[in-house]
Amino acid sequence: MAKIQIPDQKREIADVEQMRAFLEPFGIWYEKWDVEGRIGADASDKEILTAYSPEIERLKTACGFVTADVINVKAETPNLDAMLNKFNKEHTHSEDEVRFTVYGSGVFHIHPDNAPVFSITVESGDLVNVPRGTKHWFNLCSDRKIRCIRLFEEMAGWTPHYIEGGVAEKYSPLCLGPSYLTSSTKPNLESVVNLAE
Ligand SMILES: [Fe+2]
Repeated sequence: MAKIQIPDQKREIADVEQMRAFLEPFGIWYEKWDVEGRIGADASDKEILTAYSPEIERLKTACGFVTADVINVKAETPNLDAMLNKFNKEHTHSEDEVRFTVYGSGVFHIHPDNAPVFSITVESGDLVNVPRGTKHWFNLCSDRKIRCIRLFEEMAGWTPHYIEGGVAEKYSPLCLGPSYLTSSTKPNLESVVNLAE
């Protein structure tokens, strides 16, 4: 399940309602969708989109998304590091970045204008959005795999706009345990894959 970490305050939030309350002022929503028993482990992209069509259609209607697809990233994906290096630098998009994690895990870091940087670790069953214009970056976890449903208003809207002088390098990508909260923001290289160049 998702959790939020605020490195500069050495805080962690794992309770769902507390997470929602924390995220709400930033315009970020969090939902939990069932995965177990709903799709098979070997489900095709089409089967995944069909299984979650009620939720997808709800979000399309509510938020103006026009299309959805499934992205399947794994350690053996060709040019994986080059792909990930596009997303692990601080950037914004001109439309919301909405991701439902079917399998695997990853970490969004959010850099608000008037609040400390925080991370959202997402796992199977977690849906989050990163609102348009929000500074953020994304890392995989040590298992280097994630399978997500993505929703788009238009494909071009998801082009990253990089932030000059971004702070991503100051924050370790974290998918990890208590060491994070006791070791300041130093990278824990035993439990994290740092995908930065
Ligand atoms: Fe992004």
